[in-house]
This record gives sequence, C-alpha cells and structure tokens, in this order.
Amino acid sequence: MNERDLRVFVTRRLPGDALERLAQSVTVDLWPEDLPPPYDELRRRTAAVHGIIALLTDRIDAALVDGAPLLRVVSNVAVGHDNIDLTAAARRGIRVGNTPGVLTETTADLAFALILAASRRIVEADRFVRNDNWRTWDPSLLLGHDVHGATLGIVGFGAIGRAVARRAGGFGMRVLYATTRDATAEDAHLGARVDLDALLREAAFVSLHVPMTPHTAKMIGERELRMMRSDAVLVNTSRGGVVDQDALVRALNEGWIAGAGLDVVDVEPIPRDDPLLHAPNVVLLPHIGSASHVTRARMAALAVDNCLAGLRGEPLLHEVCRL
Ligand code: GLV
Repeated sequence: MNERDLRVFVTRRLPGDALERLAQSVTVDLWPEDLPPPYDELRRRTAAVHGIIALLTDRIDAALVDGAPLLRVVSNVAVGHDNIDLTAAARRGIRVGNTPGVLTETTADLAFALILAASRRIVEADRFVRNDNWRTWDPSLLLGHDVHGATLGIVGFGAIGRAVARRAGGFGMRVLYATTRDATAEDAHLGARVDLDALLREAAFVSLHVPMTPHTAKMIGERELRMMRSDAVLVNTSRGGVVDQDALVRALNEGWIAGAGLDVVDVEPIPRDDPLLHAPNVVLLPHIGSASHVTRARMAALAVDNCLAGLRGEPLLHEVCRL
C-alpha cells in the first residue's frame, strides 16, 4: 500500500512542526477546533483511518476500536494512557504509543512549583496585592511553611517521582518514597523507601506520581488523608482519580491536612459547582504538568514518530505494554 493512502486522524493541533512532518508522509485529517471532538464525532472520523494521534481527553474505548477496522496504531500525546482501552486494542493487534521521558523534568518542575505555591501561599499573596490589601511590611503577614529541610513523601518512584526527589535534594529536604517497583541503584541516594502508611504519617509534603490504573484509583482516600499530618500538603500532578476527591474536600474543610496543590482533578475541566473550588488552601491548575514550549513540541514529535512506526509495522519508540 502506498504510504500516502494511509490515513491518520489527529484530534487537535499540536505545538511544533511534527504534524507537518506527518503530513509529508501520510494523509492527515486534523480536528481543527480548540475543544476535543465529541465522542460520536471521534468515532465517525476514525472509522476508516489507519492511525489516531490522540490526547488524554479522547476516549479510545472498545466500541471505537471495534468500529475502526483499518486501525493499526493509536499514538497518545501523553505519558498517561488511561483514556485508551488497552485490552480492546491488544485484541485487535493495534499498537498503542505514549510519550514518556521527554516530559519528566518539566512535570517534576511543576510538582515543585505546587509544593512551593501551596506552602508559601503564593497564589493567595498575589491576590492580596492585586486586591489592594497591602498596607505595610507586616511580621505576621501570610506566614507559610518552610520547604527547605522538610520531609517530602513521594508516592510512585518512576521517572517523574525520581526527578522530584532530585529537586528536593537542592532544598535540603528529607525524601521518603513508596513504590511497588523494583529499586534502581540511584534510588538509595535519592531517599529512603518506606511503606505508604509510614510515608503518609511522616511527610510534610506528599506528592503523587503513580499512573491511573484500577490499583491506584482513589488510593488516597479518607483513611490515608486522616493518616497525614495536619500541617501536610498534598500535591497531585498524576491523575485526579488517584485521590478520593470527596474525602479530600472534607480533609481540607475540616483541617485533617493543611492544603493541596492540584494540577489534576477527577473531572476535567473542574465543574463550576465543585466544592473543591471553595475549599481552603488549594492551588488549582488546569492540567499543565508538561506544558512548556519545548516539552510539548517534543511530545508531539514523539507521538508522530510512534504513529509512523506503527503505520509501517515497525516497533514504536515507546509502546505501552498492556497491564
Ligand atoms: C499528562 O498528564 C500526561 O500523561 O502526559
């Protein structure tokens, strides 16, 4: 088959020039809107394609896969892939790619930004200035908690968790981590491995870096939040579903913990009536963990490389293993 006859649906415009490169080889159908294609439209547009470049907002489920008989590859522009039914894809022999590695340091930067913002009340302080409340230098104004020297608990010690630990070293923090993964040689230098309960009891900051799977869904619930220190801050740059959000709202409102920095929430975008919007001491971001110019262009390039490899029947640069 002539490569030009291969069709790829791309669910959104992407930063950088990767899509132009894709279009030089194959026929590209690009969804032109700012918002994701609605599910029915996604199914319609993918019914006769050989490849899909998808975002984490696109549900690639069994019905979609079964309705796309020519599909060879789904290439996600994300490291997470909980939007894709891997079992359905594997059943049909469809390759699934993701974009780890290129976003590790950028996401770790954002986790640290949330640690700093939540502990030093950065967002609140900015509002204070803009609202014309700044009268004088006040020794008691906007006091927060020190990051340097504090204990950081990292839940999930993959590439991003370890990158956060390296940053913590620069702040003189004590690092604890909990993971189900085998230890690497570097791990022992980055922190001390403990079980999750010990981490939750000891850490002043708990930062989540696990993928969203049936095993991690709501792994931070009422029991875990009650176990945390009352001066602790929870930081989540992984997936909202890892935290039981109703329990988190109660934890914040009732003072079980001191604050949260969240780049991700259970339902995105957060509904306007979500009680989390009114909980005290929460910094909320719109899922921008990997959002730097360079990293997003690298993610797009990797997703295009994965897609082209899958179309050509070659190994993907990063192929998601079925769990
Ligand atoms: C972003 O959340 C990603 O999974 O890359």
